[in-house]
Amino acid sequence: MPVVRGKQIEVLYSASAIARRNLELAKEVAGRDYNDLLVVSVLKGSFIFAADLIRAMHDAGISPEVEFIMISSYGAGTTSGDINVLRDIDNDVRGRDILLVDDILESGKTLNFTRELMLSRGAKSVSIAVLLDKRSRRQASLEADFVGFECPDYFVVGYGMDVSHAFRELPFVGVVKGDV
Ligand code: IMP
Ligand code: MG
Repeated sequence: MPVVRGKQIEVLYSASAIARRNLELAKEVAGRDYNDLLVVSVLKGSFIFAADLIRAMHDAGISPEVEFIMISSYGAGTTSGDINVLRDIDNDVRGRDILLVDDILESGKTLNFTRELMLSRGAKSVSIAVLLDKRSRRQASLEADFVGFECPDYFVVGYGMDVSHAFRELPFVGVVKGDV
């Protein structure tokens, strides 16, 4: 088991498994007839997934524009709170096909809020791609269009995802186990 910051990390999804899945997801996206697609990466947790997914999209023959929005619903801890836009996109989304990209779909509050925001601004369509779907935790009635992996209800880290700002740099997704 990898040891990082003195903690053992159990690997749930390896770097190679994620890379393979990203290419499949990109092909699924390419199979839809989106017009002039705008990818909106929901920061911070999605930054690595979005970076890999858009390059897989290139390999699948899609040339999206890319934007970033930062939404806060979680403090330093691990429970849901109020939702705010901390940093907005720069683009006009009116009449455009939007693909929201996030790390995890859990309660659905973050992506539901972001989806409604894009629709209220006149987006033509809003689709959702997530690396992980924690379906058992859903509160909002929301489904992702593209899901990397159905994730068990563990608190996961790595591949952009953190616990109290740590472990984002891991090239895999894992669960923090006890001290070494
Ligand atoms: P929700 O769908 O609004 O409940 O929140 C999803 C967001 O919570 C994700 O975009 C992550 O930023 C964060 N999150 C949820 N579960 C985890 C986890 O297991 N590890 C790290 N971040 C998580
Ligand atoms: Mg997030």
